[in-house]
Amino acid sequence: MSDERDSPIDFPSRYDRKIHVRDLRTGMYVTRLDRDWLETPFLLQGFLIHSANDVEEVAKYCEYVWVHNTEIPFAKDADMLSQRHASQNSNALFHVSTPIAEEHSIVRKLFSETSKYTQTMMEDVRLGRAIEEKKARVIVDKNVQSVMRNPDALAWMTKMRSEDSYTAEHSLSVCILALIFGRSLGFKEPQLSNLGLCGLLHDVGKIRVPIEILNKPSRLTDKEMKIMQAHAAHGRKLLSESKNMYEGAIDVAYCHHERPDGKGYPQGLPSEDISLFSKIISIVDSYDAMTCERVYAQAKPSTEALKIIYEERGKQFDENLALAFIQTIGLYPPGSIVELHNGCVGVVVETNVQSRHLPKVLIMRDEEKLPCTHRLVDLATTLAGELSSQYQIKTIQRDGYRNIYLRECFEKGYLTSL
Ligand SMILES: [Fe+2]
Repeated sequence: MSDERDSPIDFPSRYDRKIHVRDLRTGMYVTRLDRDWLETPFLLQGFLIHSANDVEEVAKYCEYVWVHNTEIPFAKDADMLSQRHASQNSNALFHVSTPIAEEHSIVRKLFSETSKYTQTMMEDVRLGRAIEEKKARVIVDKNVQSVMRNPDALAWMTKMRSEDSYTAEHSLSVCILALIFGRSLGFKEPQLSNLGLCGLLHDVGKIRVPIEILNKPSRLTDKEMKIMQAHAAHGRKLLSESKNMYEGAIDVAYCHHERPDGKGYPQGLPSEDISLFSKIISIVDSYDAMTCERVYAQAKPSTEALKIIYEERGKQFDENLALAFIQTIGLYPPGSIVELHNGCVGVVVETNVQSRHLPKVLIMRDEEKLPCTHRLVDLATTLAGELSSQYQIKTIQRDGYRNIYLRECFEKGYLTSL
């Protein structure tokens, strides 16, 4: 296999040493693989070998890996974000305080409350009314609390779209995804409250863009593109006119289309002049736009959107944040409809931080693809042999596959009775 493979982790090469998988030992920190990380279940930011089982697992996918060279102090000058993210998997940041079914019960009400609020807020702006920061923050903070308790319930909700009022639904999803991302970056509640507000309000300027341009199914002309891009300036103006508006939200509304390579708009700022929150919202915004159905583009599967973010790292997106985001979302986010190797089909309801490719799945179709009694299966139990490895995920499918609809799961309360 090639040595020239792109590394998902760009620590300077002098920190890494290439070894054969048979030379891997407990305690070594793997920083790079000899194949595309997307083809493997491993953590993008690198991972520690805890046991012989871990070595076996790596050997299933790779012949060679790069490990951290312990003779050199670890990544003294490497980016803090990468280090923090890599070390988080074992700490309390991933602690979940509420069981998923319980959180889904809370989220059923919360999501519809937030959704109604967002649509009303957008309508108010359309009618020329100012946004009340306090009201928006109260709603955002309820979402912060939910994400802190168990992020998988709200994550699931971002997958459910009604295809009307795109801007309001998109704003809400960006708010939720930004909170989930911020939580995994180690942000505390006051920071999350600010970040969530930025997510909710980032595209408010689109209210000033004519609907024919927003919903145009074909390519925009240069003139139309300029009108569309003006939503950043409209957003800044609208939010500046709102009393006591959080400054960060004004900045993000104006700068969330800037790019680290300086090719963004409206100002073409260099990376160092783009705020952290703008860089975060830029990634989340693009991910959500790519993964949901729009009038001019089909929804991309999550993995494809993550791959694009990976390819655009350091260009359209901040490099370290892009990597951290990919890690946060993982291959099978909650709300993914998945088919297992044994033919069963179900929906991912809860992620497994230790083995992200083995989430908890609500099985809704049996081996013959026929409707069956719903049962929650923890795919991680395949590791210990409690469950056959045929229960591992084979593919991701679209909403509606084998008549499984996410909206139906929500409306019929399947997720609250797990
Ligand atoms: Fe935007």
